[in-house]
Amino acid sequence: MRYLKWDETLFKNENVFDPDYLPEVLLHRGMQLTALAANLRPALRNSAPIHTLLFGPPATGKTSAIRTIFSELKEYGICTVYIRCPLVATAYKVMARIFECVCNHQPPQTGVSITRLYDSICSKLAEDGKVLVVALDDLNFLEADVANEILYILLKAHEEYAVKIGIVAAATERVMLDMKTGAIFHPDEIYFPLYDESEIRDILRQRVKLGFYDGAMTDEAFDRIVELTAKVCDLRFGIYLLRMAGIEAENRASRRVEVKDVEIVYEGGTKVFLAKSISALNSDERETLKIIYSIKGDVNSGDVFKILKSEVNMSYTRFYEIINKLERLRLIDVVMGRKGKGRTRYIIKKYDPRVMLKALMEY
Ligand SMILES: Nc1ncnc2c1ncn2[C@@H]1O[C@H](COP(=O)(O)OP(=O)(O)O)[C@@H](O)[C@H]1O
Ligand SMILES: [Mg+2]
Repeated sequence: MRYLKWDETLFKNENVFDPDYLPEVLLHRGMQLTALAANLRPALRNSAPIHTLLFGPPATGKTSAIRTIFSELKEYGICTVYIRCPLVATAYKVMARIFECVCNHQPPQTGVSITRLYDSICSKLAEDGKVLVVALDDLNFLEADVANEILYILLKAHEEYAVKIGIVAAATERVMLDMKTGAIFHPDEIYFPLYDESEIRDILRQRVKLGFYDGAMTDEAFDRIVELTAKVCDLRFGIYLLRMAGIEAENRASRRVEVKDVEIVYEGGTKVFLAKSISALNSDERETLKIIYSIKGDVNSGDVFKILKSEVNMSYTRFYEIINKLERLRLIDVVMGRKGKGRTRYIIKKYDPRVMLKALMEY
């Protein structure tokens, strides 16, 4: 008996389903790519790029767009630094990353102030006569004061050192700028809307073609994955389901992925997938989500607030913000409805409550 028989795989290229796989063509993002390229093109003439904010819900292609345009910039010899903000978290670390890229060596471990680091970065840029483009991806995951500090330092470069730096920030939520930073940071905004079902279909179809052998994915299984993806509106989930369903089919030694494979991986997959979204929430936000998913039937936002208020001290404004965030992360939908004389907000659960509560419990 051989446990790892890999001569019968359904996958032509399984890497296509990796979270950081970058397809050669980003479907349905022509407008956004053209706009971003136009803002950064001045760098090729050694002029200052236009600061840009890529704004839109998760999994709408913001990171992929940055990586696509950055790889072209690199081909032209432009100095680019890509920073995934949640991993970095302090202004010093961001500056250290930029230092590393620009100066080609690590900054000294201790005893160097952020201003000194910045001095070195700018002197090197001035000396080489180079433009620098910095991507601050998922900027809204930083504490607001950290985000402001980073932006401020980077933006002052232009004035103080006469070097040219372009910033490309990506965010799923607005970053509150303080007065000082707000006065000098006016990025051009490029919006990344959610993909609709037919766009999701095209994008997943492209992945199937690249990742599976011809005929390995039945139309029925594919349709089911598109439907499930459109329901939660998250491409990452779809790409994940494609891969897991493929593995499931292989495990039962089938030559084709069928609907039953999709159904089997769906529940387990949802839980893993939800765990990731839940990790982006703080404890109040998780509590709110738990209350919503514990209520049977229609959920009225007023009822949720009442329960929540009896447990934690929370203002209505804060509650409102939380509901908006949960909606943006597509963990719930909010619709307006009538209740008696007035209008009220109803909350719709997007996932199976059993699966959501389990994921919350295991967090
Ligand atoms: N237009 C697209 N064409 C192909 N794949 C895409 C497209 N947009 C997003 N994806 C894929 O969806 C996933 C999420 O995209 P990503 O760029 O990380 O989104 P965001 O940064 O907006 O959260 C990635 O696996 C990415 O490859
Ligand atoms: Mg991203």
